[in-house]
Amino acid sequence: MKRLVTFILLFVPLFVFGGEDERIEAILSRMSFEDKVGQLNQLDGRGDIEKLKKEIRAGRLGSVMNIVDPAVLDELQRIAVEESPAGIPLLFARDVVHGFKTVLPIPLGQAASFDEELVERAARNTAAEATECGIRWAFAPMMDIARDPRWGRIAEGFGEDTYLAGRLAAAVVRGYQGESLSDPMSMAACAKHFVGYGAAEGGRDYNTTYIPERQLRDTYFPPFRAAVEAGCASVMSSFNDNDGVPATGNRWLLTDVLRGEWGFDGVVVSDWGSVAGLVPHGAAADKREAAKKCITAGTDMDMSSRSYLLNLRSLVDSGEVPMEVVDEAVRRVLRLKMRLGLFDNPYTRKAATSVLYSEPVLDDACTLAQEATVMLKNEGVLPLTGVRRILVTGPMADAPYDQLGTWTLDGDKTHTLTPITALRELCGDDVEILYEPALTHCRDNSTARFGRLRSLARKADVVLAFVGEEQIMSGEAHSLADLTLQGAQSEMLEVLADCGRPLVTVFMAGRPLIIGREAEISDALLYAWHPGTMGGKAIAEIVIGRANPSGKLPVTFPRCVGQIPMYYNHKHTSHIARGTEGNLDDIPREAVQSVMGHTSSYLDVPPTPLFPFGFGLSYTTFVLSGLELSDTEVTADGVLKVRVTVENSGKVAGTEVVQLYVGRKSASVTRPMKELKGFRRVTLAPAEKRTVEFELPVSELAFCGADMRVAVEPGAYTIMVGTDSRDGLKSRFSIVK
Ligand code: NOJ
Repeated sequence: MKRLVTFILLFVPLFVFGGEDERIEAILSRMSFEDKVGQLNQLDGRGDIEKLKKEIRAGRLGSVMNIVDPAVLDELQRIAVEESPAGIPLLFARDVVHGFKTVLPIPLGQAASFDEELVERAARNTAAEATECGIRWAFAPMMDIARDPRWGRIAEGFGEDTYLAGRLAAAVVRGYQGESLSDPMSMAACAKHFVGYGAAEGGRDYNTTYIPERQLRDTYFPPFRAAVEAGCASVMSSFNDNDGVPATGNRWLLTDVLRGEWGFDGVVVSDWGSVAGLVPHGAAADKREAAKKCITAGTDMDMSSRSYLLNLRSLVDSGEVPMEVVDEAVRRVLRLKMRLGLFDNPYTRKAATSVLYSEPVLDDACTLAQEATVMLKNEGVLPLTGVRRILVTGPMADAPYDQLGTWTLDGDKTHTLTPITALRELCGDDVEILYEPALTHCRDNSTARFGRLRSLARKADVVLAFVGEEQIMSGEAHSLADLTLQGAQSEMLEVLADCGRPLVTVFMAGRPLIIGREAEISDALLYAWHPGTMGGKAIAEIVIGRANPSGKLPVTFPRCVGQIPMYYNHKHTSHIARGTEGNLDDIPREAVQSVMGHTSSYLDVPPTPLFPFGFGLSYTTFVLSGLELSDTEVTADGVLKVRVTVENSGKVAGTEVVQLYVGRKSASVTRPMKELKGFRRVTLAPAEKRTVEFELPVSELAFCGADMRVAVEPGAYTIMVGTDSRDGLKSRFSIVK
């Protein structure tokens, strides 16, 4: 009680009379050194709760992770506010990566929607759910560019493209943070993992990266910059060392670029143990040296390694770390807490009505799962019409946990709508549904039930096979070297294809899998990623034609693992592949070495992917025409307007994602052939036409030139507007001085 009075006496006048900076300085001036170091320490709350309370009471903790019981959380908060020496509220954090209770499609799936508005709204719903349980800091969005599907964490990001990742990261930031961080329904977002983590060697998680500065600036920085520009309150440093320097101890990255160049004034938190991680990296002899390197690099908060807690006192006393460096880190943490309104109201918001699993939240999750689903093939089977009997099979047809995907900490599988449940509900008595999972889970190797499967398939008008990956196969530390279907799933599809019934294969997975053969033998193919709580309903509605697929691939699908990395916006190279290579039968015997020509391709696989970035089919067709540019010449500070007419040339309403790509042939340095610079979802009734206009600020075309400056270079550019990254309508323009 005495402490509460102190808290009120100390802080209330400040909030009434002071500005943000004044308030922070006033609080800082009353803090002991130990109080300050405590603010830079973040620990997991899942251990011994009594021990945790002791730490909080002693002022040794600034943030606690992974507590979601509002009663426990409020009790810890009460201890911090009323019993700790400085009375500073705690900040409760959690990996709220794709939904909270209601699980959304994995971020890679969300990216397939190309729908910023819906992604933002779904993130807002997630914030409403998470804040109801006291979480005010989400460790998301993750915006690591990933061009290697072996890397398990490809599931957590927005795919291979810099522009798309930036747009969607900003949407999530807006959704989590709302109009104001101080809204009790807002959570601070955290842009992670800064930076280059997705480029881990060989797709092995946590591995080394070698990304040169030019590529950092052109490919890996922009999504983070977009998040910072959207007001993202925090950034998490990554585990990897890039070119010899672990990110958490990289001053150039965290201070010169992030704060100096981009003006970021939020908190930088380390990744889990990544301060102490400098020791196994071989970049620091011990935790003390690691703490010194990381705090001076600009990492404000030490997640879970206690390196700051145990070493900052001696580092400051010895003069190795200036006091001002510690003060500055504490200021940033206090600023974040202040912006979240925690000094005014530190406790969990009291919800009049719960939003957990509420109808509007579930509805948005369902629409997002629908928009995330990409139709990769359809030989006239989908949507199902006039069928009397369907065989539903495969290990993902009823896998309520697995379809939620990685980072499902809070989603409860008893709320999951699986495809079999949803299909039964939607089809009612009109259609008979035969169900035989055939395999108990995706790694099941037993073919014992294939005989029964065969006989059921022969009785059905159509077969729906749900295959893919278990939840545990993707995400952190879950990389794979072989990306073909596991267990006897491929064999199961062969058996089904052999039965002569139309075969619809639906994939649920955390990454692009290698699915060439499966695509060949299926009559239709849907890729639903791990679609979350409402995935079954979303897919079932697509299958029966109540919804029309509109998802587009946010990542290239290679033909085989040997092609990785494969991404659409690669460079020209001096020996461009023609696209016809890759057939061993074309290679003559004992011919001269040069007989095959000299192109950048494999002898045994075509240089093209199985499915390109941006690709996805619909139940209708679209025709683009009339590409027009507002100008043929623009200046570096100008805006180019690009118009194109989209027509629904099919028989049902549908949505197309019109994509704008820009490329240039020559520059001061070599450049990608083309890069996405705009996209627009257009929904049209049959025969309806609409002209869409893109506004392309020329500044978007800046890149890191030969002089290492990011600038727009004058010269000739090409524009391509299409429905995928492969081809489209083309035009040209020039940037002039
Ligand atoms: C490690 C992961 O890399 C990061 O993404 C996550 O936010 C933290 N652990 C906290 O759980």
